[in-house]
Amino acid sequence: MFNTPFVLSFALLLSLPLLFFFAPRFLPPKHAQIPLPDELDDLALFRRATLASIRPGGSAVSRLGTTKSKPKIAFLFLTNSDIHFAPIWQLFFNNHLGLYNIYIHADPSSKITPPGGVFEGRFIAAKRTQRATPTLISAERRLLATALLDDSLNSYFALVSPSCIPLHSFQFMYNSLFIKPITESTSSSSQISTPLYRSFIEILHDDPYLKDRYISRGKDVMLPEVPFNRFRVGSQFFVLTRQHALVVIKDRRLWRKFRLPCHNLDSCYPEEHYFPTLLSMEDPHGCTHYTLTRVNWTGSTDGHPYTYGPAEISSKLIRELRVSNSSYSFMFARKFSPDCLQPLLDIAEKVIFRD
Ligand SMILES: *[C@@H]1O[C@H](CO)[C@@H](O)[C@H](O)[C@H]1NC(C)=O
Ligand SMILES: *[C@@H]1O[C@H](CO)[C@@H](O)[C@H](O)[C@H]1NC(C)=O
Repeated sequence: MFNTPFVLSFALLLSLPLLFFFAPRFLPPKHAQIPLPDELDDLALFRRATLASIRPGGSAVSRLGTTKSKPKIAFLFLTNSDIHFAPIWQLFFNNHLGLYNIYIHADPSSKITPPGGVFEGRFIAAKRTQRATPTLISAERRLLATALLDDSLNSYFALVSPSCIPLHSFQFMYNSLFIKPITESTSSSSQISTPLYRSFIEILHDDPYLKDRYISRGKDVMLPEVPFNRFRVGSQFFVLTRQHALVVIKDRRLWRKFRLPCHNLDSCYPEEHYFPTLLSMEDPHGCTHYTLTRVNWTGSTDGHPYTYGPAEISSKLIRELRVSNSSYSFMFARKFSPDCLQPLLDIAEKVIFRD
């Protein structure tokens, strides 16, 4: 009665609406894909930064002690909102010119009031960032590459967010990073040489949700570059050495996997996996495996940690937040709501910057 081609085309016609209905569930959201021109821009930037740093005199840490220039800390602000605590950071950086640089990556689609002061003119060429997408990894790599290129004295690279505050004075942080490691290693009689400067990055393998996060782009998608037993998680907030910043911007292999969009957005935090996984593969002994940024995950909601409000700000809280399980004090803490600014300013000189 009906010939086969007719039945086939009829069935096809019927299935079209179904396709429209189901397609959004199978296909990753379009916004999650990194546009090719952005990818090419980044590659060019990373190449320039890599080439510049292999020229003689490119590495500041290796020249330590042989020149009069002191190493600097590059502060990398990743933001899509105003830097609410700019006045606190202003006090933090006061009188330490020449020992730090500031770089801000601000989502171009967000309306940000330029904070002025030490932040004046410190915005870098930025692209859109979105939660649960690899765009946050790209933004962090862009910050690292720009800072590497900008000043060969940048020796540590500290990632911070607008909800972060410092927990110590600049001098305390600087001495902890550059002077403490030297005294630590010379006092040790051990023959096993641990690297002088290590990256402060959390690297964990026992997170209960690790498997869900591993398969958030699909089953076996991460293979062969990233087998599950090498997949790691850690806080987004790191302080990397110059050598590790270079490892990160030179990487193409893992990025090919981590740039893929997630299907399961509930288990998608690419930036919390890319950096710990890469550095634990490339140089596990060069990393402390812990972060210097204190976060309170008690009572977290929707992947966001606890946010302190103005009524909770006290000298007791600051002292509590500094205490860590490592031989290093915590240097930064998050998250604080924007209206904590005044109470924090009130205790800045007497508590936060008094070590
Ligand atoms: C962490 O947050 C909880 C609320 O979820 C709070 O009760 C606790 O005091 C906080 N811890 C610290 C050290 O601030
Ligand atoms: C220190 O370690 C203990 C025991 O593992 C843990 O309960 C506590 O939360 C840790 N403190 C910090 C600040 O990480």
